[in-house]
Amino acid sequence: MTASLPSVAAAIRAAMLTADPQDKAMATRAVVRDWRAGRLAFAFDVVMPDVPARPALPELLPPNRMPKRGRGGSERGRIALIHALCHIEFVAIDLALDAAGRFGAERGADFVTDWLGVAADEAMHFGLLARRLRSLGSHYGAMPAHDGLWDAARETAHDVAARLAVVPMVLEARGLDVTPQTIARFVAAEDHTTARILQRIVDDEVRHVRFGTTHFAQVCAERGKQAPQFWNMLVTQHFRGSVKPPFNDSARRSAGLSCEMMAALA
Ligand SMILES: [Fe+2]
Ligand SMILES: [Fe+2]
Repeated sequence: MTASLPSVAAAIRAAMLTADPQDKAMATRAVVRDWRAGRLAFAFDVVMPDVPARPALPELLPPNRMPKRGRGGSERGRIALIHALCHIEFVAIDLALDAAGRFGAERGADFVTDWLGVAADEAMHFGLLARRLRSLGSHYGAMPAHDGLWDAARETAHDVAARLAVVPMVLEARGLDVTPQTIARFVAAEDHTTARILQRIVDDEVRHVRFGTTHFAQVCAERGKQAPQFWNMLVTQHFRGSVKPPFNDSARRSAGLSCEMMAALA
């Protein structure tokens, strides 16, 4: 019967090429459900798109043209911050789908299961923040958003080790460092609803980073590489930003970014 099942790659590609945010989130959840239920074949008969489909809004601006959000406690500033985080989650859906669809064939079914699970989490995170924006009288797309979040995907499309080294192990790990302060900001403004959503998100993100470090360790073992040194080399080659403290050491440790790993980047 397997021969008649649709391929997981085609289902992932279709979700990536869905532009409407709600539809993309729903398509992603459907892929994950179908994969878990055995309704998709472990087959990679189509390639992933270079760039996923995007809705007409939000307008995407280069980072240096983004309006300043300010650090104050105004409601307007907090809504802008939620909008920025909502956009990050939206792009994270496609990043996780792309990891599963692009590298699944070489890495195997467990890899696909892990990154599709991440994609489902990101779709849920996106949905929580989009709903929060609506209850505050705004919506996803109401403000411009940061273009460039897909750069890391493009830069690491050729190699699963580079992808893992940069996307989960640098970018998502950065979220572990900064989210506690963001939560504190919402608590200080007595917006406990948003604070709870962000706590939920950061708990999930620890697991995403751990998937990154775990699969990276497997790739290193297969290639005969020392993980700390190889990570440092790949980050130097493929990540233009800098990885700098303060780090959330306990969250990073539970995500598999040990002191030894962090020391290699220092
Ligand atoms: Fe997320
Ligand atoms: Fe994530």
